[in-house]
Amino acid sequence: MEVILSGMRPTGNLHLGNYFGALKNYVSLQELYDCYFFIADYHLLTTHPNPEDLLANVKTILCQYLACGLNPEKATIYVQSSVPEVAELYMYLNMLTYVGELQRVAAFKEKVRQNPNNVNAGLLTYPTLMAADILLHRATKVPVGKDQQQHLEMTRDFAERFNKMYKVDYFPLPQAFNFGNDLIKIPSLDGNGKMSKSYGENATIYLNDEPSVLKKKIMRAKTDSGPTEKNQAKPIEIENLFALMRSVSKPEIIEQFEDAYNDCSIRYGDMKKQLAEDMENFVSPIRERIKELSSNEEYLNKVIRMGGEKAQANASKTIKEVREIIGFKKL
Ligand code: TYM
Repeated sequence: MEVILSGMRPTGNLHLGNYFGALKNYVSLQELYDCYFFIADYHLLTTHPNPEDLLANVKTILCQYLACGLNPEKATIYVQSSVPEVAELYMYLNMLTYVGELQRVAAFKEKVRQNPNNVNAGLLTYPTLMAADILLHRATKVPVGKDQQQHLEMTRDFAERFNKMYKVDYFPLPQAFNFGNDLIKIPSLDGNGKMSKSYGENATIYLNDEPSVLKKKIMRAKTDSGPTEKNQAKPIEIENLFALMRSVSKPEIIEQFEDAYNDCSIRYGDMKKQLAEDMENFVSPIRERIKELSSNEEYLNKVIRMGGEKAQANASKTIKEVREIIGFKKL
């Protein structure tokens, strides 16, 4: 059976990009395949989180995974640090990875630009840890957003390199996955690039935003003075609003505003009001489930324990086989 895997760093609340880029697909996949969804708390150490906050951050994201529809009875939901076998595979893969190829990774270069005082080796080797996450369960499909495409290409390179080096056909070559469609990039509300926590609270829609906050963020989104020629190309901030609408609004609503844009009759205030309403309809059930689940500490602990045990059983099998392939024999 095909294995599906994906994960997210526990950096706080999930936003719309996390949902449409990755989670939405996970939820459909858990019905069909052997699925692993994990919380990447080792990856988080690149930014040196406070030890007191770590577990709370993990529980926040777990709760939001569950509120979005991940089902611990169907999928294996686990915390990365519950399965330390991944660190061993990460080390083996690092032996096959070249520093030059890591230095060329777009996400690494971006982090260096954002934070020149914290260019640690964990940040540089982020793609090998990510590859270890995936290969540990020998996953073949990885539902992620567009920003992770390069990391997946590298994972395939590392898997291929391992297989060639040891003359085996052990690791399958995984693919970034979105049901045959292009990978998704949800834009930010401020006309910048992708929606991301690093571009500020006002540019990001969280799955637990209260209705008034949600509305305010959308009504404040950047627009221009409107089209002046029929069918003219959309500037980036307007295209972004349409992209957000395409993620939560009905097709006839989108068509109505597309037509209004193309014949220059569009009123951005009306468009944003509609978007705020459709966004609230999308977010409100998730927000309510997050509230319910966050008070159920006992259940969250149980999910963490159950997923950790299942993930570890599979991981230790892989590590045992990898050690043998590499040549480490038990005497
Ligand atoms: P993280 O936490 O940065 O992102 C989690 C997921 O959300 C997607 N995403 C987006 N998708 C579309 N539009 C956006 N604006 C947007 N912002 C975020 C990301 O593509 C990602 O799928 N490196 C991973 C975590 C990870 C992982 C793995 C994933 C570690 N090991 C192994 C898969 C397999 C990450 O970016 O997390």
